[in-house]
Parts: sequence; structure tokens; C-alpha cells
Amino acid sequence: MRYAELHKLSIEHPEKFWGEQAKLIDWFEEPKEVVSQDEQGLYWWYKGGKLNTSYLALDYHVKTGRGDQTALIYDSPATGSQKKYTFSQLRDEVASFAGALRGLGVEKGDRVIVYMPMVPEAAIAMLACARLGAVHSVVFGGFAPNELAIRIDDATPKVLVSATCGIEFDKVIPYKPLVDKALELSNTPPEKTVILARPQQSCEMQSGRDYDWEEITKSASPADPVPVDANDPLYILYTSGTTGKPKGVLRDNGGHAVALRYSMKNIYNINPGEVYWAASDVGWVVGHSYIVYAPLLHGCTTIMYEGKPVRTPDAGAFWRVMSEHKVSAFFTAPTAFRAIKKEDPEAKFKAKYDLNMLRTLYLAGERLDPPTYDWLADILDIPIVDHWWQTETGWAIVANLMGIEPRLVKSGSATVPVPGFNVQILDEEGNEVPRGESGSIVIKLPLPPGCLPTLWQDNERYVESYVSTYKGYYLTGDSGYIDEDGYVFIMGRIDDVINVAGHRLSTGEMEEIIAGHESVAECAVVGIDDELKGQVPVGFVILKDGMDMDDKALETELVQLIRAEIGAVACFRQALKVKRLPKTRSGKILRKTIRRLASEDNVPTPATIDDPVILDEIKDALSANGVGQFAK
Ligand code: COA
Ligand code: AMP
Repeated sequence: MRYAELHKLSIEHPEKFWGEQAKLIDWFEEPKEVVSQDEQGLYWWYKGGKLNTSYLALDYHVKTGRGDQTALIYDSPATGSQKKYTFSQLRDEVASFAGALRGLGVEKGDRVIVYMPMVPEAAIAMLACARLGAVHSVVFGGFAPNELAIRIDDATPKVLVSATCGIEFDKVIPYKPLVDKALELSNTPPEKTVILARPQQSCEMQSGRDYDWEEITKSASPADPVPVDANDPLYILYTSGTTGKPKGVLRDNGGHAVALRYSMKNIYNINPGEVYWAASDVGWVVGHSYIVYAPLLHGCTTIMYEGKPVRTPDAGAFWRVMSEHKVSAFFTAPTAFRAIKKEDPEAKFKAKYDLNMLRTLYLAGERLDPPTYDWLADILDIPIVDHWWQTETGWAIVANLMGIEPRLVKSGSATVPVPGFNVQILDEEGNEVPRGESGSIVIKLPLPPGCLPTLWQDNERYVESYVSTYKGYYLTGDSGYIDEDGYVFIMGRIDDVINVAGHRLSTGEMEEIIAGHESVAECAVVGIDDELKGQVPVGFVILKDGMDMDDKALETELVQLIRAEIGAVACFRQALKVKRLPKTRSGKILRKTIRRLASEDNVPTPATIDDPVILDEIKDALSANGVGQFAK
């Protein structure tokens, strides 16, 4: 069947479409219903089905003859080492660590926080939780103790799994002091931690609380997969919303397994036995879906890469890994290629490697800017596929479906809605807009399998954030349009979420933190366009009356505050002292106008502004501080 027919079928007869897809996974018990709604109106897929995600990702392949195939390659320029695991070996490691977790009291339904660098043990910990029916919540290693503590308090884990350190380029970052601090800050600290000892860094262990990974795994009895219900949670992944409290996106087991398996062939056109590499981090949704779960569910070899696109050791790092491990499909964020292009504009490193196996390059996580697309299209002879998705959906909403019917690429568009996603553009009143006109991008409910059914223990916030603005639709938070040919163009967020080097962050949260500084009366944090990172946050700060602080001293304190509260990953490096902020007559800060002033000339004065002179003051501050287009 061709794309148009398949998409139509998936929207008009979701039960038939997703019922068929569900038959392709090895359930312990078949689902009783394909999709159903509960009394609160939430949709659930595959009610009554019983399965185990770790069984599907590992044991199933051992049973069906892939036991000796490489399941996971760890490639670490950071440590100068490599290691390979077959499906049998990975299954055994996962079973042993699951046994160790069980020995610490972890059972079905318990939460486990995973705060790890890009080492195989991160994937092993995730799969071990899945094996027990426990719920993992991975926290990105670049987050500060405060962010970790917020997640601990929401997830109330029984155990936290971490390592002695992470490695950023050549810098060793001790993790254990961060963990200790987070446990101190938390109101509900887990009683136990498991720490992976890495040779690069030792740490203090608290007897009776901190357990050594190797020691407890050595003596553990391997655990078998525990059957769970399709709707039992597999994981919680916290993502930035508009406030300081991140949203705990919930993923259930059944829909996730069906959707991810479907995506591998139909979106990524990859076959079992081939090598699939997503250069991301397990702390993000791309890492969950396309480093750990989808490739393994599909019987592919996955790669855990502990390195960077550049300087590990050079801008040829990605090409080297692709060539050495014979990668067929590669997926990363555009920012990674912007970093490579900056250091190696003529792609000289690429010429050193044989990339014959590489069929397609996939990009997501942020807007694929035309210069990066053009550069890639120029140096590679394969399709460059942009696709759009979110932590909430767990897999692509809009893509060029390489396994169904590859389409001609239109620059700036992520191509067409993936089967299962009924994407529409609405105006403020909730009416569908004509083709070509911009509006709010929504998805008609139900969302397909694999997407969030709700937020962790917060149905109310789920409803309020996602499905109450337009009745019957999921609000993506992005704006954009659909053209005459059905191509979807994503224009950017309509809320306080920004994307920094492919990392999703909340300017609202940064504003809350800055507003807590004793000298600050009011502030705005705005995502300013950045050539390398896509966007970077910049603060605009009004001091309290009577407070006076040197501009540089204020900036240093605020930068330090954000680093301490959110983490280095926020990339908050500039804070500008201003006298006033541009506002509408009703008092709303015109953040979009500030953003445009930093990157465009001749920005129109909004009709609703209370005092247009303020725009000149902001422009002067941007220019004096070398922000955005005024960078020196
Ligand atoms: N643990 C600890 N610290 C981390 C970290 C981690 N896992 N990840 C990032 N950081 C720190 C960095 O060390 C840096 O700290 P610094 O301010 O002290 O130097 C800070 O967070 C900002 O990091 P980053 O934005 O990544 O900038 P960078 O200059 O270190 O690297 C790139 C730039 C483009 C090479 C890098 O951002 C990159 O590889 N991006 C790809 C992103 C990606 O894969 N996204 C996933 C979505 S698909
Ligand atoms: P995250 O939840 O971290 O994956 O971030 C999701 C957000 O990143 C989306 O809502 C978009 O704003 C942005 N995004 C992701 N992929 C793309 C893409 N291909 N094009 C444009 N924006 C994207």
C-alpha cells in the first residue's frame, strides 16, 4: 500500500491499522481491546495485553536465532575504548543487573532513577528495570543536583543508579558529589544507590546506602522477565514545560513496543541485523527510543557513543564511527553537524572513510536550518531526512517515510504526517486554517500508540497542558503550516520552550530562578538565534529600586545561579541589565519582539505595545553587549 492509503487507513480505522501492527510483537497475552477511553477521557492502547519490553528487546531475539549477533556496540573516544555485546550477552547482563536491583528491593511498579553517562550500563539499567516491570526515569547527566532532586521528589524512586563520573570531551565530571547533593536536597531520597565505578574517577561510598555496581551484580541471581500489562508504565521522562516543574512524560509498555517496532521499517527503512546509530544521549527521548529500545526491539545493532561530533579527537568522529561499524541509518540533531561544518567546512575528514553502507541520514530535535541541510546534501549522496517529534510522542509525528514511499524533499519541511498522526493546523478559535496558512499544530485524538497516555501521577496537568485548549486535539506547542501537497512546515514553539544544541529547556524556569535573585525586580529570558546551537537563552533583567550592581558582576552571579540550579547544559551565558521591558498594554512581556530585535533589522513595532521607545533601549542593550546579530 502507498503512503496516502496507509495514512488514511490509520486515521479512519485506527483499530484495524494498529490491531494489525500489534500482531507483529510477541505478547505473553494478546490485548483484549486495541484502543479504549477511560472514565476521564484518556486513551489507552492494547488494554488487557501482557508483555515484557526487555523480553522483546533481548530474549525474543536469542530465542529466534539472533543470540550471537551484536546487539550493542560501545564506542568511546572519551576513554579510548570499545566493547561489543551480543544479544545473548546483553540479555545475561540485563538479567543479572535486574537480579541485583531486585536484591535491593525493586519490584514491579517501583521507580528507579538512572543518572548515567553514555556507557552500556545506562542501557543495561533501563532494560533491567523493564525486565522487572519497574519504571525507570533517566535524568540527563548535564543537569545539576537541584534538577535531579526535583525529579527524585516527583518520581519517588526506590533506588538511584549512577556512575562515578561522566566525561565531556577530555574533562572528567565527578557525578557522585552531584548525586550526594541531590539526595541531600530531595524530600524523598531513595534509600539506596548503585554506583558504577569507572577507572577515571573514584568516589566516597556511604555504607548501607551506596552499593557498588559490580559487587552487587556479581552475586545476584539473574531475573526473568516479569509479565506486565500493556498499560503499565515503562518509564517516566521529565521534559521542560513552561514552569520550573518539569513534566513527567509517561510511556506505557504495549503501545511503545508496537509503535517503535513499526517506526524502524516504515520510517527508517532498516532491517533486523543492520546497524542503526542515533548519536544522542540516553537522557533524552531520542536516546530512549532510538539508542536503546527501537533498534533492539527490531533486532538491529545499536551504538552507544561516548564522544562528541568534534574534538574527540576531530571533526571526523562521526564519519569514523559510521564507517568502522558499518552503520546503515544514522540519526542526530542538526546542531551536531553545525559543529562539524564549522571545524571542517569542506568535509575533508569524510573523504577518509568508506561510507558505502550508509543509506540515509535522519535529523531531528530542532529545526533543520537550510544552510546545514544544503551542506549535508552537498557532501552526501544519500537522502537527508528531517523529521519532527517530541518527548511526548516518543516517535516521529511528521517524516519522510523512507520505508513506505520516499518523497521529494522540500527544504524547511519535515515532509508528511506519519500514519497514526492526524495533524491539523488550527487558528486561535480552534478552526482549521486553509492550506498554506500558519497556526497552532495539533493532533486529533487519539494519538497513536507509543505517545504519552498522560503525565506521571498528574492527569489534571496532562489535560490542562495538552488536551484542553482545543477539545478533541493534542496541542503540540509548535506552530506551522501544511502546504498544498500536504507537507508540514514547523515554524517554532508558541510557548516558553527553547531548543539549545538540540536540548529542550524552559525559559520560564530560568526566569523563575533569576527572579529569585535578591537584586532582581523583573526579568525575561529569551531564546536568541545562534549559529551553532540553534538558540541560546539570554536574560533581560530589571534591578529592584535602590539596588545597584555592576553589569558584569550581575551577569556572573546570574550565570552561576542558572548553572547551579539547572546545570551547564542550559548554556545561559548572557544577562543584560535593562531599565524597562517591552510589554503589551495588558502587561505581557513581548518576548518574541525581543527575540526578533536580536536577529533582524526593521522589526515592526507591535500594535499592542505600551511604549515603543523601549524597543530602542533593548536594541541598544543588545548592541552594547554583542548579543545575536550584534555579536562581535
Ligand atoms: N554531563 C555533564 N555536563 C554536560 C553534559 C553531560 N552529559 N552534556 C553537556 N554538558 C555540559 C558541557 O560540558 C558544557 O559545559 P561548560 O559550559 O562547562 O563547557 C555545557 O553542558 C554545554 O554543553 P553543550 O551545549 O553540549 O555545548 P558544547 O560546547 O559542550 O558542545 C556540541 C556543543 C554541538 C558539540 C554538543 O552540544 C552536541 O554534541 N550536541 C548534539 C546534541 C544532541 O545530540 N542532542 C540530542 C537530541 S537528538
Ligand atoms: P524534545 O521534546 O526535546 O524532542 O523537543 C521537541 C521540540 O523540538 C518540538 O516541539 C519542536 O519545537 C522541536 N523540534 C524537534 N524536531 C524538530 C524538527 N525536525 N523541526 C523543527 N523543530 C523540531
